[in-house]
Amino acid sequence: MKSNQELIKLTNKHVAQNYGRYPIGLVRGKGTSVWDASGKKYIDFVAGLAVDNLGHCPPTVVNAIRKQAGKLLHVSNLYHIEPQSQLAAELARVSFADKFFFCNSGTEANEAAIKLARRWFYDNGQPKRHEIITMNDSFHGRTMASLSATAQKKIHIGFKPLLPGFKYIPFNDIAALKKNLTKKTCAVLIEPIQGEGGVNLAQETYLKTLRKICNEKGILLIFDEIQTGFGRTGRLFAYERYKIKPDIITLAKALGGGIAIGAMGSTNKIIKSFAPGTHGATFGGNPLACAASLASLKTLTKKGFLKKSSTTGDYFLKKLYRLKDDFSIIREVRGVGLMLAIELNQPGAEVVTKCMKEGLLINCIQQNTIRFLPPLIITRKEINFLIRTLSKIFTKMEQ
Ligand SMILES: Cc1ncc(COP(=O)(O)O)c(C=O)c1O
Repeated sequence: MKSNQELIKLTNKHVAQNYGRYPIGLVRGKGTSVWDASGKKYIDFVAGLAVDNLGHCPPTVVNAIRKQAGKLLHVSNLYHIEPQSQLAAELARVSFADKFFFCNSGTEANEAAIKLARRWFYDNGQPKRHEIITMNDSFHGRTMASLSATAQKKIHIGFKPLLPGFKYIPFNDIAALKKNLTKKTCAVLIEPIQGEGGVNLAQETYLKTLRKICNEKGILLIFDEIQTGFGRTGRLFAYERYKIKPDIITLAKALGGGIAIGAMGSTNKIIKSFAPGTHGATFGGNPLACAASLASLKTLTKKGFLKKSSTTGDYFLKKLYRLKDDFSIIREVRGVGLMLAIELNQPGAEVVTKCMKEGLLINCIQQNTIRFLPPLIITRKEINFLIRTLSKIFTKMEQ
């Protein structure tokens, strides 16, 4: 096995340098922990950026993959695929949607949602209705349509011209929404809790009013639940917290229990616009990814699982608020469930590096916000260790 240094050298020589990577190579994971090439253990509060919701190598998912790998790895969507149909049926059972399109990532799921929204109006005699409204500080992915939907200037640099037909408005602002609606508006695309944008929560009244306006004007409401889905906020989907339903939902990240898979779901009425030949993905809904996803979903929907992780999230949030009382370096605490963040009054990069030295992986976004996205099986003991470590680090930083 290669050392951390050898791994870093190999990566830097042959892998595109489009990520700012930390100087460790992760080689093994189990439960809430990962190990680097030197054998050092880290408690993982990043969880592959909200992918490993069941922890690393969850036995049920690993066993399902082993079983499926010996049976059928890939066949084309020209044929019926058993794990895919089973997964779609299960997702339909636990959500508002009737049918699902499968792909391999979040950005593809959003591309599918954008195409479905436009196609639906085209099929319904309104081909000019193509504009999609998205929110400042949103993040919807890196392919051209999702990138154009993402309202963050830094993500657009060097990639213009963007795709036309996207309008950006401030988050949680109904007046701005009303001002920007036109006869051409076909959809509003929104993360109920913005992830990459800083863990920003939509207000309940805002989402309810948004739903009402979309109903009145016949606009499709698309929820990007790529980060918030699969128990991250203490419910299977964040929309359940707000007691409203979107028309279209996009999913990825934790959907596959660690395996790449994305999905876009909607009601029969709308998704019928994805008629044969309108859209596709060679690997979308392949047997292996769907078997992994089914196994993961089975654990997530087990009685009491989400309730327990939600209680853990409440405990974590309380601890973060207490930390804020002790340290003026913390400007704000945000989040829900196990999607939490602290905004600092200075850059957070050094906190991440210091935590790493102490055996903790955390993530810094928007320069000064520390985001916590641990596996949903994180324990109070592990949270206490993180809080103690942050406390030590902040004490030194405030000296
Ligand atoms: C809310 C949201 N949408 C879309 C994406 C893009 O997903 P992917 O990286 O799988 O394309 C992300 C990824 O961070 C995300 O958080």
